[in-house]
Amino acid sequence: MKLLITGRPGAGKGTQAVNIREYYNIPHISTGDMFRAAMKAGTKMGLLAKEYMEKGQLVPDEVTIGIVKDRLLEDDCKEGFLLDGFPRNIKQAEALDEFLKENNVNLDAVLDVNVAQEVLVRRMVGRRVCKNCGATYHVEFNKPKVDGICDNCGNALIQRPDDTEATAVNRLAVYDEQTAPLLDYYKKQGILVTVDGDQDFDKVFEDIKAVLK
Ligand code: AP5
Ligand code: MG
Ligand code: ZN
Repeated sequence: MKLLITGRPGAGKGTQAVNIREYYNIPHISTGDMFRAAMKAGTKMGLLAKEYMEKGQLVPDEVTIGIVKDRLLEDDCKEGFLLDGFPRNIKQAEALDEFLKENNVNLDAVLDVNVAQEVLVRRMVGRRVCKNCGATYHVEFNKPKVDGICDNCGNALIQRPDDTEATAVNRLAVYDEQTAPLLDYYKKQGILVTVDGDQDFDKVFEDIKAVLK
């Protein structure tokens, strides 16, 4: 299965990606996670990405497109992959199409997790992530068993620096301006499928499995 998952910031892409990765046994490739890992490692790319991410802006295309291509050439992507948060504008989508064509790869589907804007600031501001394993929680909607501690690995939960209200609002605006046009782009290719992301976590995944059948 070769998939893209798209949707507004906070729609639940990362949350559902964990289910999809396990169910279809494909690697989950999140550009946001790759940038956060680079920031943590203190690499040059991480330092550059930080400048953009903390304002809620997109990291420059040259950087982003390069890291995705390199990642897709790795062996574990041969049978399938799930790209999360990429592409994020038309230029990235065109670069991806060109790359896939060169490598004789076809996408099976582009999955849009649709959630209305109003719900999302609350989802982002209340999100907590494990600083060790990356598991995602929410202070109201998906509480860990022990406050502030990851169920999976026992490490501390932290708030993403770009999950402040002001940055979340800005990320939503960037989505409308730059990412939303991708829906039409992939609709024209006949591979866009949509699920309602404003439902219970399990119901969203049931719907995902149904539309990908
Ligand atoms: P990225 O990391 O991709 O962030 P995003 O797109 O803003 O999306 P999020 O990760 O915030 O949301 P999500 O949909 O994964 O939601 P989640 O499942 O966590 O990008 C961050 C930054 O990196 C960008 O701003 C940009 O600077 C840079 N970047 C990344 N890719 C780039 C690219 N291609 N080009 C340029 N720059 C790029 O869920 C959110 C919360 O809601 C959680 O707390 C969760 O528990 C909760 N939740 C999930 N599902 C439900 C549900 N059904 N009901 C109730 N709560 C739910
Ligand atoms: Mg995410
Ligand atoms: Zn953890």
